[in-house]
Amino acid sequence: MCGIVGYVGNKDCTEVLIDGLSKLEYRGYDSAGISVLENGCIRTVKAQGKLKNLEDKISAGECFKGTCGIGHTRWATHGEPSDINAHPHGNAILSIVHNGIIENYMDIKESLKNDGYTFESQTDTEIAAKLLDYYYKGDPVEAIIHVLGEVRGSFALGIVFKDFEDTIFAVRKESPLIVGVGDGENFIASDVPAILKYTKKYYLLESDELAILKKDSVEFLDLHRNTIEKEIQVADWDMEAAEKCGYEHFMLKEIHEQPNAIKNTLSPRIKNGLPYLDGCGLDDETLKNFNNIFIVACGTAMHAGVVGKYVIEELVRIPVTVDIASEFRYRNPIITEKDLVIIISQSGETADTLAALKLAKKQGAKTLAVVNVVGSSIAREADMVIYTHAGLEISVASTKAYSVQVAVMYLLAFKLALINDKITEDACRNYTNQLFEIPSVISAYLEEKEQLQFIASKLVNADSLLFIGRGLDYAMSMEGSLKLKEISYIHSEAYPAGELKHGTISLITENMPVIAVATQKSLFEKTISNIKEVKARGANVILLSSCDSKTKPGMMLLIIELTFLVQMICLCH
Ligand code: F6R
Repeated sequence: MCGIVGYVGNKDCTEVLIDGLSKLEYRGYDSAGISVLENGCIRTVKAQGKLKNLEDKISAGECFKGTCGIGHTRWATHGEPSDINAHPHGNAILSIVHNGIIENYMDIKESLKNDGYTFESQTDTEIAAKLLDYYYKGDPVEAIIHVLGEVRGSFALGIVFKDFEDTIFAVRKESPLIVGVGDGENFIASDVPAILKYTKKYYLLESDELAILKKDSVEFLDLHRNTIEKEIQVADWDMEAAEKCGYEHFMLKEIHEQPNAIKNTLSPRIKNGLPYLDGCGLDDETLKNFNNIFIVACGTAMHAGVVGKYVIEELVRIPVTVDIASEFRYRNPIITEKDLVIIISQSGETADTLAALKLAKKQGAKTLAVVNVVGSSIAREADMVIYTHAGLEISVASTKAYSVQVAVMYLLAFKLALINDKITEDACRNYTNQLFEIPSVISAYLEEKEQLQFIASKLVNADSLLFIGRGLDYAMSMEGSLKLKEISYIHSEAYPAGELKHGTISLITENMPVIAVATQKSLFEKTISNIKEVKARGANVILLSSCDSKTKPGMMLLIIELTFLVQMICLCH
């Protein structure tokens, strides 16, 4: 995922840009670059690979002094990772950095070619830069408005012009961009950590809003050049949240932050031992009368939604459909004003999820967002919001955000069950108490590092593996499998254990690892039968189970006696 930083002030801009980009490295990137305005010229340097390569280039002579500029870390989408494809793109007149995708870039490219433009990169960003150049006749705002009228897609742009040495222009459509406000200096960034060292104050730029930053002022305009007043936000994270604090990497730090994240999320939502969601706009009357519930999200957040489906359906007996946001928004879903659409998102900015939310609202459904980032687009757009308090999640691979999303799904299920008279107050109090025990169980489990390392050592050379489970175990396996793929690059699939025999079992080969999750008493024996099936074909099974039963087949690679999340997911059984 790409990162944007921009700076205008009195400091050496190159230093600030490199520092800001280093804070965005966690997003992943394959090249980086900066443009700095210096003595009436735009000076640009770009390098494939790590930020260090860019720094080496800068200290090897391409060094330049300036106090206004833009920087970018690129994750290749259009064209391979290379110096040429790296951002910024532009010419002697202007330079731009870009996050997101310009969907109609091929059409624009053809028409610019007819006007005599030539292209050196394979990127959609270069097309935006040339289009801006085409419209630029001395008025940057005019040119940017023209470009916005022509490009389609979701994007965020940071732009500098040679003729405006002390100014950054920024605009966005769906891709997130913030404007940081310092003392005698201002910033743009795709994410808060890039500027936290300098300021906690920032504005959220909305779609189709234009920001004009000088060192002492920030102005916002709409596409008709009307001035917009905006409310300043203050990040409630400190620098520590953006540092690894002794952990090898952010993901590990965030895994260890799960107990506190869950505590912080649940504590304000429990009153007299019962779920208390009034502060989120969810009064009992609103929550009582839904025919159907839809849960819409992407990736990990969607997997938390699948857990939500199992728990809500089990306890509340309302049909719940879980949808991948990028499918939901294009499939003309059947929803009405009698339905509740729950949108889950850590960032609150995921373009497909936001579009799904807008669609649900348009069709009259009540919308509830479960979001981590306060004031994010999804949080502002939804009718009701439950904020998860996971704190800043820097790792691209989501961990603690998933745990708090799952915790909220449980709490919501308890609340819905209680007000719909599906469970008694005592039962609800009992469930809520058990949920509140989860942080300490996770803490204990995180101490068991050696066991986890041992399992990893058994899997590290696998080409492919399967997670199998039923019900909630299957839901949890989906997230396990995604995490494994994302982090280790080992292919894996989560499969409903009972469905294996209908074809997929033919994939099982001698010594193939299969991670079987069997934590629900009611489904335990069924999953054990499926384990026997894969073992008969030579699989090396790792069993995650909290159920103590003599029916466990022998000769398993490893049996992990689980007590933590499993307690969470067994709660209802
Ligand atoms: C995977 C991961 C992604 C996100 C997904 C949705 O580890 O982090 O799958 O869960 O991109 O992001 P949010 O929750 O910000 O909408």
